[in-house]
Amino acid sequence: MYRILTKRQLNPTVTMMDIYAPLVAQKAQAGQFIILRVDEDGERIPLTVAGFDREAGTVKIIFQIVGGTTMRLNEKNEGEYISDFVGPLGCATRTEGLKKVCIVGGGVGCAIALPVAQKLHAQGAIVHSIIGFRNKDLLILEDEFKACSDKLTIMTDDGSYGRQGVVTVPLKEAISGGEQYDEVITIGPLIMMKFVVATTKPFNVPTVVSMNPIMIDGTGMCGGCRLTVGGKTKFACVDGPDFNGSEVDFDEAMARSSMYAEFEKRERENFCNLFKKEVE
Ligand SMILES: Cc1cc2nc3c(=O)[nH]c(=O)nc-3n(C[C@H](O)[C@H](O)[C@H](O)COP(=O)(O)OP(=O)(O)OC[C@H]3O[C@@H](n4cnc5c(N)ncnc54)[C@H](O)[C@@H]3O)c2cc1C
Ligand code: FES
Repeated sequence: MYRILTKRQLNPTVTMMDIYAPLVAQKAQAGQFIILRVDEDGERIPLTVAGFDREAGTVKIIFQIVGGTTMRLNEKNEGEYISDFVGPLGCATRTEGLKKVCIVGGGVGCAIALPVAQKLHAQGAIVHSIIGFRNKDLLILEDEFKACSDKLTIMTDDGSYGRQGVVTVPLKEAISGGEQYDEVITIGPLIMMKFVVATTKPFNVPTVVSMNPIMIDGTGMCGGCRLTVGGKTKFACVDGPDFNGSEVDFDEAMARSSMYAEFEKRERENFCNLFKKEVE
């Protein structure tokens, strides 16, 4: 059992928790993820390691409440326990030798991008961060990004905070204006990452994407997380989650990500009905 030490609501749909998991904290690195089950009968879901404290033995997770399992997780409070917390899984984000990087995050993807930005900053790289949200109410981690970025641009779709527009606009401005990035690292919705890659490709800027397909075992055995990268089949859980963006078949990944939409909708409705009954 894994104890929830702290719980904080970052916005109406995103929650941050510190979980006491010393063995995971000891080995975790930016870019890796864990798989948890809220209770014994629960579904396994992957969440990125959003931070860790090796001395305190804690691992930070930041999750968007989107369906049955994340709703159940969000019902847990400080001092309560979750059943399983396995990791760290996947490959750490490669940062060696990078001197100037642009991090492009979208929505809750910013939670995954933050530890990478922090690691690059700590190793002395120049970090430009561009983070995008639908509106001001959904903004997360502004102070944390400010602290590890040499330049921070915030975008909102409706212009309610920062600049109005999508993240690819300031990215294109920066690159065409002469910024020379060793790499662009982008994490967020598939459609956003697809367009970030389309923006950087004409300028030949190496671009790394973090892929979040459906995962089950997280150890390369079930094939659930398979992707086509450079014409070859790759498993995001063991070969990734980071890949060369220009080689990823995004259209296939988008089609596969909606495979269980009906089932997920039923689970959400089940949870909401259960919750309604408990309140009545
Ligand atoms: C490597 C990796 C890291 C991730 N890191 C984060 C993170 O840090 N924060 C965060 O909010 N989300 C993260 N996700 C997505 C997160 O796993 C899903 O939001 C979660 O599984 C949703 O479960 P649910 O039952 O609440 O919702 P559901 O209604 O079951 O699903 C909602 C959507 O979540 C995705 N999803 C559902 N089940 C899985 C699964 N087993 N594996 C992967 N995706 C799934 C699907 O796109 C689905 O349409 C990550 C996914 C992967 C693969
Ligand atoms: S989650 Fe099963 S192979 Fe990757």
